[in-house]
Amino acid sequence: MLSERISLLNPSPTLALTAKVAELRKYGEDIISFGAGEPDFGTPGPICEAGIQAIRDGHTRYTASAGIPELRSAIADKLVKENGVTVAPEQVIVSAGAKQSVFNALMTLCNPGDEVILIAPYWMTYRDQIALAEATPVVVQTAVETGYVPSLDDLRAAISPKTKAIIINSPSNPSGAVLPREKLKEIAALAIRHGFHVVSDEIYEKLTYGAEHISIASLGSEIAERTVTINGVSKAFAMTGWRIGYAAASLPIAKGMSALQDQVTSNPASISQYAALAALKMPFEPVRAMVEEFECRRELILGELAKIPEVRCAKPGGAFYVFPDVRAHLSGRTDLELAAYLLEEHKVACVPGSVFEGDGHLRLTYALDRHQIVEGVRRISEGLQSLT
Ligand SMILES: Cc1ncc(COP(=O)(O)O)c(C=O)c1O
Repeated sequence: MLSERISLLNPSPTLALTAKVAELRKYGEDIISFGAGEPDFGTPGPICEAGIQAIRDGHTRYTASAGIPELRSAIADKLVKENGVTVAPEQVIVSAGAKQSVFNALMTLCNPGDEVILIAPYWMTYRDQIALAEATPVVVQTAVETGYVPSLDDLRAAISPKTKAIIINSPSNPSGAVLPREKLKEIAALAIRHGFHVVSDEIYEKLTYGAEHISIASLGSEIAERTVTINGVSKAFAMTGWRIGYAAASLPIAKGMSALQDQVTSNPASISQYAALAALKMPFEPVRAMVEEFECRRELILGELAKIPEVRCAKPGGAFYVFPDVRAHLSGRTDLELAAYLLEEHKVACVPGSVFEGDGHLRLTYALDRHQIVEGVRRISEGLQSLT
């Protein structure tokens, strides 16, 4: 009855986990959830005020499909000043979240049968969106030992005449890995030599802890031409519900994405666009305080996890996730079964690593308060140790 395209889609496991946690809590269960993929902070006051003011000012109608000119200009300015990516406002398309921006990019770049390289562990949405674009994912595996950074040989081996694009996501969801400049240079050189595109999802850009975030499109005009740089306000400004993301690309690609968006959603919410404009123009201080808090929590959660025997965890350079390797504790179980066991028996929710093609791991967010982090990891520890 349904299209083949729709039957290819996997229900979002993180949303399913959130629903399960909500149901258990409804029955009075005390659950600690490491599942969320969003900051636990409120949107800063001035941004909310800008949204309210936009309503008062009557900005409640359709806007240009690709976004209001002021916002596209502010994004182009930001990309030039903060990221060294030279773009004009016409090259910027504002969408309903970075998720839509990634989808627009893949639909604009890929023909049926094209291949898209994914670096595992990866945000699972990429796989489903590649399927919707009727392209094929080609997965490059990475490991805890190398901090989830892909090797040049593995990247080379993934390239074929059908390669249309690579998706990079630095800092990464779920591993928190930040790709160093040298690795980005290697990827850029491969893209130029073999003639494929880079879709660079930089949504966690502002959430880095000592590691340097580099936009691959800043590495030269040749790679800039081939790159779709994606970012948004969801994570940096605690604005997940406002739904504003953006993409910047060469003019032909930007025009293609805009034409697609014209026919699918038109503009993202007008009110949110004004709020996003305020976010990009406001002082960085409230964001810095949030990042500092995340950094303290990162230390805390790593310290707590280190107390569990045989759990290995790379130190993430960014985002708000840790991705411990729990293979030593599986004793024949899958990570899906392990996560179900931890939730049912020990009242702690984690996302199983296989969701991200990182089997044998768990993804834990540290976007929750310190007390819950300590208690949650204690429950995981208890759960794992009672299995072995
Ligand atoms: C890697 C990555 N990209 C994009 C998004 C989606 O961002 P947005 O809320 O702007 O759609 C997420 C959200 O979890 C993410 O983890």
